[in-house]
Amino acid sequence: MAFRVRNPNFVSLILLSLLVIASANVFFEERFDDGWESRWVKSDWKKEENMAGEWNYTSGKWNGDANDKGIQTSEDYRFYAISAEFPEFSNKDNTLVFQFSVKHEQKLDCGGGYMKLLSGEVDQKKFGGDTPYSIMFGPDICGYTTKKVHAILTYNETNKLIKKDVPCETDQLSHVYTFILHPDATYSILIDNAEKQTGSLYSDWDLLPPKKIKDPEAKKPEDWDETEYIPDPEDKKPEGYDDIPKEIPDVDAKKPEDWDDEEDGEWTAPTIANPEYKGPWKPKKIKNPNYKGKWKAPLIDNPDFKDDPDLYVFPKLKYVGIELWQVKSGTLFDNVLITDDPEYAKQVAEETWGKQKDAEKAAFDEAEKKREEEETKDDPVDSDAEDEDDAEDAGEDSDSESKPEADDGSTGTKEEDVHDEL
Ligand SMILES: *[C@@H]1O[C@H](CO)[C@@H](O)[C@H](O)[C@H]1NC(C)=O
Ligand SMILES: *[C@@H]1O[C@H](CO)[C@@H](O)[C@H](O)[C@H]1NC(C)=O
Repeated sequence: MAFRVRNPNFVSLILLSLLVIASANVFFEERFDDGWESRWVKSDWKKEENMAGEWNYTSGKWNGDANDKGIQTSEDYRFYAISAEFPEFSNKDNTLVFQFSVKHEQKLDCGGGYMKLLSGEVDQKKFGGDTPYSIMFGPDICGYTTKKVHAILTYNETNKLIKKDVPCETDQLSHVYTFILHPDATYSILIDNAEKQTGSLYSDWDLLPPKKIKDPEAKKPEDWDETEYIPDPEDKKPEGYDDIPKEIPDVDAKKPEDWDDEEDGEWTAPTIANPEYKGPWKPKKIKNPNYKGKWKAPLIDNPDFKDDPDLYVFPKLKYVGIELWQVKSGTLFDNVLITDDPEYAKQVAEETWGKQKDAEKAAFDEAEKKREEEETKDDPVDSDAEDEDDAEDAGEDSDSESKPEADDGSTGTKEEDVHDEL
């Protein structure tokens, strides 16, 4: 049968997209299809203490495709550690893209949704909170104050946090987090294929000592005038200014009927504040014509700064892992990708999250509606004449009672955990 090309542009479009894909190096890609368990190693970390949580292989309570599964934390108050190995590579002279999707079905109030890239040799059975890593990236939520995307880079064996604030998503739907590191030491952070932050490793992390410092030898010149306003030398005190009394007799006051001059002494009216009185005279202020601004030491090259052209290089990347503490479980990871091609990553995000997000949102809305109906039905207060607001309040109260004081404990553990990492 003849194959007729109707539109030559269409063919070149196919060729072009083949080229794009052909040029992508994919170092690791995990969609969590069948057989994922042979690629991932569950760590024994925290097992002896019975604190290691189980992963649930599922598409979750709401999803855009019930057959597209990921791995979800399934037990509360547990540690989770799991990792996968890929052929070791270096990102020298190449772009590094690290991407995954995460969905917090549990209305996360304190916990992480981040992943790590590890280098060198790691005993995956012992992978845990103390295992050194190269990059930690992804959302972290705790209370009202922490709702951010972590981007921690390990340089010279020290973990360094990004200095810019990158807010994370806080709803109960899937989101794709992408970290892109370029060989010119610039980076981008994307959420759902939209750039949220971008810049340079030099300015947005304190990896190296600063390039410029204030000249420690510099001194403020003697005649440097830092006084912005001075008393106006032209301004003169008005004549008679000092004669204005602070207080004056109250003209409205009347001598009381029963006042007896002989017995009570001569009556004088009480005094009140004089509205004319403006306090001691001060000349008005004018801008100082000699004002030079605040003196600043000039910047000089920092003698301790030594550039590292390989600042962005992680020469032995070999594992990807999830290591978390969760108070409330329900975080679902999927579509882990490590590549050198941002376009390919974008395409993967579109094919997975992008294709499913509307259906997932609809399924979530449906589930929420059901949950609210259930709560209303279960609530005896509401079945009486009480109004809806009360019913909702009661629902929230009972919800918070079911997860008691342990919230605090978790926050403590969590912060310790993060401190350990820093
Ligand atoms: C796994 O997730 C599914 C979907 O949310 C749920 O029905 C099931 O109970 C979960 N299993 C475990 C062991 O948590
Ligand atoms: C690496 O860290 C050590 C210890 O903190 C420090 O003395 C050294 O100067 C650092 N080297 C570089 C290149 O930053």
